[in-house]
Amino acid sequence: MKFFIDTANLDQIKEAQALGVLDGVTTNPSLMAKEGITGKANILKHYEAICECVDGDVSAEVIATDFEGMVKEGEELAALNPQIVVKLPMIADGVKACKYFADKGIRTNVTLVFSAGQALLAAKAGATYVSPFLGRLDDISTDGLNLIEEIRQIYDNYDFNTQILAASIRHTMHVINCAKIGSDVMTGPLSSIEGLLKHPLTDSGLAKFLEDAKSFDL
Ligand code: E4P
Repeated sequence: MKFFIDTANLDQIKEAQALGVLDGVTTNPSLMAKEGITGKANILKHYEAICECVDGDVSAEVIATDFEGMVKEGEELAALNPQIVVKLPMIADGVKACKYFADKGIRTNVTLVFSAGQALLAAKAGATYVSPFLGRLDDISTDGLNLIEEIRQIYDNYDFNTQILAASIRHTMHVINCAKIGSDVMTGPLSSIEGLLKHPLTDSGLAKFLEDAKSFDL
């Protein structure tokens, strides 16, 4: 299972990378805005900076919502660095753009996916990644994990190469349950990765080992 961090914050990306378990980064316009980055040149520069912090894939989202605009923006983003994956919204022109990029060998992440039908369309269009937003479904009392299961079954039935990127992860149990289902990737905040470390028995066990080691007189 690949671990992506869902942020545009360079310090958090570096912290996750330093842990040695990071496979990539996902961003979106809201996450970029949160970092206070404005202007096209600065935004492109920030994507380049993110690529320097991590070895793996970096999803960069287009703002355009028409086919021509998405193609123009996506080509510009993809040209920045081979790590860039063009993130496209799940709308008709997004599906068309996904097919266009797939034919050109440019990798894509189809985002804002909330149904199995949308995930099937993304796979048919040749998406590299599909991003079902499980946290946002849970937020409205709908079982987000069930969607991941449905997509897993559909993709396995037909051997689609599209990778399921469980997005909108909120906490460690989302990560664990997605791993049980067989999601290819998860993307979440740093807390959802670091939270996996925690167990009180690890802490108390280590404290006891260190206490007992005092008698070693090293
Ligand atoms: C996916 O790539 C999105 O950036 C993200 O996971 C959305 O998460 P949120 O629902 O916490 O905003």
